Amino acid sequence: MRKRNKVTIIGAGHVGGTAAQRLAEKEIADVVLIDIAADMPKGKALDLSETAPIYGYDSLLTGSDDYETTAGSDVVVITSGIPRKPGMSRGDLLRVNAKIVKEVTQAVVKRSPESILIVVSNPLDAITYVAYRTSGFPKERVMGMAGVLDSARFRSFLAMELKVSVENIQTLVLGGHGDSMVPLPRYTTVAGIPIMDLLSKEKLDTILQRTRDGGAEIVKLLKTGSAYFAPSAAIIEMVEAILKDKKKILPCSALCQSEYKLEDVFIGVPVKLGKDGIEEILEIELTADESRSLLRSANAVKALCKEVDTVISS
Ligand code: LAC
Repeated sequence: MRKRNKVTIIGAGHVGGTAAQRLAEKEIADVVLIDIAADMPKGKALDLSETAPIYGYDSLLTGSDDYETTAGSDVVVITSGIPRKPGMSRGDLLRVNAKIVKEVTQAVVKRSPESILIVVSNPLDAITYVAYRTSGFPKERVMGMAGVLDSARFRSFLAMELKVSVENIQTLVLGGHGDSMVPLPRYTTVAGIPIMDLLSKEKLDTILQRTRDGGAEIVKLLKTGSAYFAPSAAIIEMVEAILKDKKKILPCSALCQSEYKLEDVFIGVPVKLGKDGIEEILEIELTADESRSLLRSANAVKALCKEVDTVISS
């Protein structure tokens, strides 16, 4: 008999807790919620277990501070780390979160050597590199969540502006998760209609900037943390694509080794997600301008990766 899928979420804060809720409600896996705080993940898991009779899911939820409970996970989502405070850049978080994620990754991969890692901690692309280097996993099984979130923000702003269904809007946001992200209006359509036919350049530019600042806009409003509803939804879209072997094309932070003429850098690119993780990186055609933006973004990520090399090897 086929065993149930098991997904571990490291970090039981708002992102981790909401991701656990979404996973349970979709009933696609049993969920283990881990945190350094001993009781808090137990409390969230129990609360979600007590929700099950009302929502009608039979996913098992476990909360713990003990990594033994994570053994044999199919997918591990790493949300650990400190979040941004108002005025902080994602780069400010670099060293602190690199150290935390290194330790978490070591603890996880020992017990789930066949798992697929999805990194959510910021600064996203550099921290995904930390998890990759620490895990020793093949590149197909380590990825970062950012492009789905950034694309969702872009789609929601476009839907608000055009007063159409969000479901009509298709787009791709590539590049690093930060100020250098690369939204691609040329690959953005509304029910198949190119976005450039529907919006003025000024309107579009305003929305592109709002997309780049999307994370900071929420941080500024919440005042005590960063976004979690949309980030957790983005995580679940990736987890579901993997567990159901959907071969879904989504923008994710993936290790590019020659793709897009980039060398050894984790950066947001369109990938095909299925049971083996990143089954393919799709190389779409970019204009000279778009290529330059992607390269600039990759160079920004590389600079951060250099800074964390000492953390990785310490
Ligand atoms: C954001 C944080 C999670 O973009 O980076 O909301």
